[in-house]
Amino acid sequence: MKKKVESHRIAASDDIEVSTYLGLAKELRGEQPVVEPKLPPSDRDTIVVLDFGSQYSMLIARRVRECHVYCELVSYDTPWEKIASLNPRGLILSGGPASVYDSGAPLPLPYIYESHMPVMGICYGMFAIASHLGAQVTRGAKREYGHTILHVSEEGSPLFAGLPSSFPVWMSHGDQVMELPPGFKTLAHTENSPFAVIGKDNSVYGLQFHPEVVHTAHGKTIFQNFVLQICGCQGNWTPANFISESVDKIKEQVGGGRVVCALSGGVDSAVAATLIDRAIGNKLTCIFINNGLLRRDEPERVLSTFKRHLRMDVVYVDATDRFLERLKGVSDPEQKRQLIGNEFIQIFEEEAATLGKIDFLAQGTLYPDVIESTSTDTKAAAKIKSHHNVGGLPAKMNFTLVEPLRYLFKDEVRQVGLALGLPEDRVWRQPFPGPGLAIRIIGDVTREKLEILRAADWILMSEIKKANLYRQLWQSFAVLTDVKSVGVMGDYRTYGYLLAVRAVTSEDAMTADWARLPHDLLATISDRIVNEIPSVNRVVYDITSKPPATIEWE
Ligand code: XMP
Repeated sequence: MKKKVESHRIAASDDIEVSTYLGLAKELRGEQPVVEPKLPPSDRDTIVVLDFGSQYSMLIARRVRECHVYCELVSYDTPWEKIASLNPRGLILSGGPASVYDSGAPLPLPYIYESHMPVMGICYGMFAIASHLGAQVTRGAKREYGHTILHVSEEGSPLFAGLPSSFPVWMSHGDQVMELPPGFKTLAHTENSPFAVIGKDNSVYGLQFHPEVVHTAHGKTIFQNFVLQICGCQGNWTPANFISESVDKIKEQVGGGRVVCALSGGVDSAVAATLIDRAIGNKLTCIFINNGLLRRDEPERVLSTFKRHLRMDVVYVDATDRFLERLKGVSDPEQKRQLIGNEFIQIFEEEAATLGKIDFLAQGTLYPDVIESTSTDTKAAAKIKSHHNVGGLPAKMNFTLVEPLRYLFKDEVRQVGLALGLPEDRVWRQPFPGPGLAIRIIGDVTREKLEILRAADWILMSEIKKANLYRQLWQSFAVLTDVKSVGVMGDYRTYGYLLAVRAVTSEDAMTADWARLPHDLLATISDRIVNEIPSVNRVVYDITSKPPATIEWE
């Protein structure tokens, strides 16, 4: 059986992004990954999150970054040498699924106390600290899940500066600290938890609730208090600082070498390319391959942004015929994905070979991809589809990677994109899959069906934008099914395509909910589609969340 590539690794990726498609290409070809550059860390303040396996660990890192402080998420057992190299000003211990009293439960290494840095343990992180320091932790009489009111017992604690004396917090735990570890004080309690927040010397804190989730009121202030006041971070992790730092790093890494970048039009590759362009100018060549599966006007828009507006060196390849020829008669979703991925690699190789000696390959890899590709959980995750993005290249081409976005979250990429002067519509574009419209046409892909889908997509998008909903939705798109149904128009019978409209809200594409679009909007979309596209006579709205469905239909 052919090997599939896990879907989760690129859940955070954007429009036919460069980032993880490379991984797919290598896995498909059974080749070794391209060597990743080891960039020296800068001397900026860092908060390190030690990950004990919580589903919210990444959220903790994002909350810290929202305080304009750089943050890295690493495994709980990361050795001190690596932590020290990050120039940390404080540590946060995440929650996790284990119980500290279980044999083999993950425990922090002694450096968390010995380094004399401020430490904040959240949920399991708190239990781990308490138990490590000799306090008893047991299964609580009652599991606490959801909202509860936190009462501050210790006025004047810097962790609660600027906060009311009681506020709702969000709990999710079954264990409980039964006594204070030596030297600790109770800083806050809830009805069920006498030790809901504990602290020692304004430097080690344990929080039984989750300040990182939106359901905790004032979570943001708690993070600000910890990272800015208690850890003393400067809060200077801004897009402008990131840009100047990255430009320096790229110059240092690339030297006089040449870089090639597969441009997709999505925000990740756009921001990566623009940053590299700012650093090395004409030593960067972008390749933009039109696979014939893009939305209406998309190739023109990409070219106008990068070639005409940003004056970058872009090689444009219209490979529509090649892709459509390969896809002829293919209706299996996985086969479509594989064919498109392989064809892309082939064409990219051919184009890159015409450019002479190229030393580096730019990728728009994001931090969630980096974390997920090293997380054991994700490695064990079920494989659903062969995701891929534009940019897959085989290792034998001998490129070194340039990955300027490797430590950024998606929202930070957008901020950097805006600071770089990229047009807003490019920066805020909804994700679009690498295999493009081919996985939104059920059954075989033909020019005629592509035109129908493009027309429907155009109507849908313009109505969504007119209703000011574009940015609120993770994605909104049309799917052309292979079902035909009977209708009536005027006095005539019609027999036309069934078209589905899908709109979802999501934080990261791992889960998604179908969007409750206003009925009037749905009516307008449906009316316009059946009136303006003669071959479609019926429109349905997809009301399935993910799971159990996926966002795309194939
Ligand atoms: P699913 O359909 O798996 O999609 O729920 C999750 C997110 O990933 C996007 N997607 C892709 N993105 N290459 C990509 O760059 C792909 O092959 C691919 N397949 C799905 C999808 O649009 C959604 O945002």
